[in-house]
Amino acid sequence: MSTSDNAPKRGSGLSIFLILVTAGATVGVMMLMQNIRERKTEAKETVFRVTNIAETTVDPAEWGKNFPRQYDSYKRTVDVDRTKYGGSEAFQKLDQDPRWRQIFKGYAFSIDYREERGHAYMLSDQRETERVTKKPQPGACLHCHASITNAYRKAGIEKGATGTLDDPLTSPSGQEQLMKGFEAVCAVPYNDATKLVTHPVACVDCHDPQTMQLRISRPGFTNGIQALAKSEDPVPHLPSVERWRKGDRKNAYDPNAEATRQEMRSMICAQCHVEYYFKGDGKLVTFPWHKGLKVEQIETYYNEVGWKDWSHAETGAPALKAQHPEFELWSQGIHARSGVACADCHMPYQREGAVKISDHHVRSPMLNTARACQTCHHYSEDEIKSRVETIQDRTAKLMGRGEEAVVALINALKAAKDTGASDDTLKKARELQRQSQWRLDFIAAENSMGFHAPQESARILGEAIDLARQGELEALKITGLSATPKAPDKPADKPADKPATPPPAK
Ligand code: HEC
Ligand code: HEC
Ligand code: HEC
Ligand code: HEC
Ligand code: HEC
Repeated sequence: MSTSDNAPKRGSGLSIFLILVTAGATVGVMMLMQNIRERKTEAKETVFRVTNIAETTVDPAEWGKNFPRQYDSYKRTVDVDRTKYGGSEAFQKLDQDPRWRQIFKGYAFSIDYREERGHAYMLSDQRETERVTKKPQPGACLHCHASITNAYRKAGIEKGATGTLDDPLTSPSGQEQLMKGFEAVCAVPYNDATKLVTHPVACVDCHDPQTMQLRISRPGFTNGIQALAKSEDPVPHLPSVERWRKGDRKNAYDPNAEATRQEMRSMICAQCHVEYYFKGDGKLVTFPWHKGLKVEQIETYYNEVGWKDWSHAETGAPALKAQHPEFELWSQGIHARSGVACADCHMPYQREGAVKISDHHVRSPMLNTARACQTCHHYSEDEIKSRVETIQDRTAKLMGRGEEAVVALINALKAAKDTGASDDTLKKARELQRQSQWRLDFIAAENSMGFHAPQESARILGEAIDLARQGELEALKITGLSATPKAPDKPADKPADKPATPPPAK
C-alpha cells in the first residue's frame, strides 16, 4: 500500500523537480543571453568613436575619448615601483656601483646614469639629465623619447617632401615626409629640436588612427631592419624577414607591409629598445645591424666603419658604450624562438567585462606575473619569481666579476701608459679594453639582468672576463711587472728563520 501510495507521489515529485530544473535552466540561459548581449554591447562600445582621430591627432587624451581603457592604463606608466633588479625608481646607477664611474671615465655616462622608468617620463628625463644639460647633444636623441612622428613629417614637408600631414603615414608621401624630416631633425641642436615635441611616445606613434593596427613610425628601425634583412644572420624568430630573403629582393623589406601581427608586437618596441649610434655629421640615428644582431656582429660593424663612442680618460682606449639592447638580446633567447613577443610579457591581455584589452601600463612583468607569465607557465607566482631571480642573481654575480676584471685592466693599462709607452705599444691592451668593456656593457646596459636570454648573457660575460684578463696581462708586460716577478716568499723547503709552527695539538 504504502508503495502504491508513494508511487504517484514520487512521480509528481520527480516531475515537479524536472519542471523546476527546466525552469531554472531556462532562466539561467536567459540570464546568460542577457549577460552576453550586455557584454557584446560593451565590447562594441569600445569601437564606437566619440571623436574623430587623424594622423595629426598627437594628444593621447583625444584618442582616449575613443579608447578610455587603453588610455587609463597608458597613463599609469607614471607609477613608481621597484623589483629586485628592475622597476621604475630613477636611482643613480653610478652611486649604487661606483666602478661604472671609472669604466665610463671621460664620457657623459660617467656624470649621470640612472635606472630607467615608465614611458610617461621619457621626455622630461631626457631634458633634465646632466648628459643633456652639461654636454651638447643633437636632436637625434628625440627619436626614442617623444611623440615625434608628426614633427618629423612637418619638418619633411618644409624640406620639400610631397603631400600633406593628413596622408596616411604608410603611404609613399607619408614615408617620404617622415624620412626627410628625420634626416633634418637629427642634426638640429637638442635644445632647438626638443621644442618641436610635447608628448612622450603616444598612440599615433604605434597605431594607425583609422584601423588601430600597429605600425612602425621610427625611421631608425626601418633602416636598421632593412640592413638586417640584407645580412646573412639567421633570424628564425622573424619569419617575415626570412621570407623576404627568399624572394626577389627588388624592394627593401617593409615591416609595415610584411611583418606578421605577432612580429609587430615586438618590432614596435624594437624602434627604441635597441643599441644605436649617431652616424656622421648628420647625427643620423643608426641601428648597427648590418652584420646581424649578436654582440660580435655589431662589434665587427663598428670596427669596419671605425666607430668609437669615446676615448677612455685614463687609458686612451677607443671605447664603445652599449645602450639598452633589449631587442638584440631577446632575439637570442628561447622566448623569441618560441614566438613570445615583448608585448606578451610587458603588455599582457587583461579582461574587462567582455573585452580583452592590452595592458598599456608598460612595466616590469615581475609586478604582474599572473597575467604576464601564468597564461603560459602554470606554476605559482612564487615559483615564477624565483626562477627569474635565479637567472638574474647568476647574471649579476658574473657581471660583478666582469666589472672587477675590466677595472683591473684599466688600472694596469693606466700604469703602463704612465711609463710613457708609445701608442703602438699600448695598442693591443687598449683593443682588449674596447672588446671586454663592450661585452660587459652589452649585458649591463640591457635591462633584464640576463632574463631575456640567460645562456647568451653568461656566454658574453664569460668572454668579457677572459678578454679583460688578457688585456691586463698585456698591460703588465709593458710595465715589466711580469718580466721581473717578485721573489716568492720564503720557499717552504728552505730552513726557516723562524721555527715552523708546531702542528696544533690534537
Ligand atoms: C617572456 C617574457 C618577456 C619577454 C618576451 C620580454 N621581456 Fe622584457 N623583461 C622580462 C622580465 C622578467 C624582466 C625583468 C624585470 C625585472 O627585473 O623587474 C624584463 C625586463 C625588461 C626591461 C626592464 C624593466 C625594468 O623594470 O627595469 C625592459 C625595458 C624590457 N624588459 C623590454 C623588453 C623588450 C623591448 C622586449 C622585446 C624585444 C622584451 N622585454 C621581451 C620579461 C620579458
Ligand atoms: C634608439 C633609441 C634611443 C635614442 C636615440 C636615445 N635613447 Fe635614451 N633611452 C632609450 C631607451 C629605450 C631608454 C630606457 C632604457 C634604459 O634606460 O636603458 C632610454 C633611457 C634614457 C634615459 C634615462 C636613463 C638614464 O640613462 O639615465 C635618459 C636620461 C636618456 N635615455 C637620454 C638620452 C639622450 C641624452 C639621448 C641622445 C644622446 C638618448 N637618450 C637617445 C632609447 C633611446
Ligand atoms: C619611442 C620609443 C619607445 C618605444 C616605442 C617603446 N619604449 Fe619602452 N621606454 C622608452 C624609454 C625612453 C624608456 C625610459 C623612460 C625614462 O626612464 O624616463 C622606456 C622604458 C621602458 C620600460 C621601463 C618601465 C619601468 O617602469 O621601469 C619598459 C618595461 C619598456 N620601456 C618596455 C617597452 C615595451 C615592451 C615596448 C613595446 C610595446 C616599448 N617599451 C616601446 C622608449 C620606448
Ligand atoms: C608603444 C606602443 C603603443 C602605444 C604608445 C600605444 N599602444 Fe595601443 N597597443 C599597442 C600594442 C602592442 C597593442 C597590441 C596590438 C596587437 O596585439 O595587435 C595595442 C593595442 C591597442 C588596441 C587594441 C585593443 C587592445 O587593447 O589590444 C587599442 C584600442 C589601443 N591599443 C589603443 C591605444 C591608445 C588609445 C593609445 C594612446 C593612449 C595607445 N594604444 C598607445 C602598443 C601601443
Ligand atoms: C606566450 C607564452 C609565454 C609567456 C607569456 C611566457 N613564457 Fe616563458 N616560456 C615559454 C616557452 C614556449 C618557453 C620555452 C620552453 C619550452 O618550449 O618548453 C618558455 C621558457 C621559459 C623559461 C625557461 C628559460 C630557459 O632559458 O630555459 C623561463 C624561466 C620562463 N619561460 C619564464 C617566464 C616568465 C617569468 C614569464 C613572464 C614574465 C614568461 N616566461 C612568459 C612561453 C611563455
